[in-house]
Amino acid sequence: MGAVEIKPGIYWVGAIDWAVRDFHGYITPNGTSYNNYLILDEQVTLVDTVKHDFCEYTIDNIRSLVDPAKIENVVINHIENDHMSSIDRIMELAPKATIYITARGKKGLDRFFDTSRWNFKIVKTGDMLGMGTKTITFLETPMLHWPDSMMSYVKEDKLLISQDAFGQHLASSARFDDEYCDQYSVTGLEHAVRDYYANILMPFGALVKSKIAEIQKLGIEIDMIAPDHGVIWKKNPAKIIQMYLDMANDKADLRVVIVYDTMWHSTEHMTIPLMEGIKAAGVDVDVIKLRATPMSRAIKRVWESRAMLIGTPTLNNIMFPSVAEFLTHLRGLRPKNRLVGAFGSFGWGGGAVKEAYAEFKRMGLEAVEPGVEVLYRPSLDDDDRCFAFGKQFAEKAIEYHKKFNGEQPGKCVA
Ligand code: FEO
Repeated sequence: MGAVEIKPGIYWVGAIDWAVRDFHGYITPNGTSYNNYLILDEQVTLVDTVKHDFCEYTIDNIRSLVDPAKIENVVINHIENDHMSSIDRIMELAPKATIYITARGKKGLDRFFDTSRWNFKIVKTGDMLGMGTKTITFLETPMLHWPDSMMSYVKEDKLLISQDAFGQHLASSARFDDEYCDQYSVTGLEHAVRDYYANILMPFGALVKSKIAEIQKLGIEIDMIAPDHGVIWKKNPAKIIQMYLDMANDKADLRVVIVYDTMWHSTEHMTIPLMEGIKAAGVDVDVIKLRATPMSRAIKRVWESRAMLIGTPTLNNIMFPSVAEFLTHLRGLRPKNRLVGAFGSFGWGGGAVKEAYAEFKRMGLEAVEPGVEVLYRPSLDDDDRCFAFGKQFAEKAIEYHKKFNGEQPGKCVA
């Protein structure tokens, strides 16, 4: 896709990755884009590069606007490979350019490339780059998404180039939010935002809040947010900021999501009376079988829901591998303010449900104990126990949810 002007003299020059379905383990059914931006001012400035496989696309886009040798400044907002791994090629074409980067970014970049021939300017929050008629102000955003991360704000255009934050893994011909057509997409735009947040930014909610507060305190006016993935927020940038605040404030839907796996269908069978018990308490319920579902989708659904029940058979006295993997991954994402419980079947000896509760404790989540365990195969009595536990769990979820969403069991977003 060719260069697209997003503000007078500022162009999207990135690349669309229609085919990627596994982004370092995160499933991307819609593909993604690697967005970078070229500012044509008295000094030509490139903000970010793209994943190295797509390097020639961005170079073609730059060439369609200006000779790359004329680039005087290259801003590296973030050193993850999807955004900076074309820097060596860019510096071949513009060897005299100065790279603007945070101190941590430079330290990281030195591990990927021989940077000894390149010119650097280390920047921190509040530093500026005057390009002629336009000025970039840098804003460090450590851990959003890596320690080196920063954003670039062009005050004359009220444009925030936000790097990973506010992005979405969406490959699309639409460059702007108001061009994107949900109707024909595998995943709608807001779902793509939540998917991205849940799988990448969930651990950093407190930082998201403090960084948005810092931006507001600085009195920065924003009428466009240009992230490094997906569409640019032109029509309503306030909406994406509010979505982020809601997610950072742990808003969720009043729903129980049952996440399970099964060996010989006993644990699977338990999901049915559990689901009926939850429904009987008047709470929405969703059921996800792990081996049939990409992990990132399960993570998103857990993140969107106030409560989670984990179902695991016991295998060799511990949790079923797919469930253990899921909980380990979830622990790394540091979920907060979710109510949890566990259930499962066992044959020779139990252990899995106990392990699931130990994992909940490590995560610091509030758990409803004890869960339900069934020997070999659920009987009708076991079905009754599952129904009762599901109902009890959902009733507790209603009370728990009020702490965050008030009396109204309303939805967080969409
Ligand atoms: Fe899109 Fe943290 O890289």
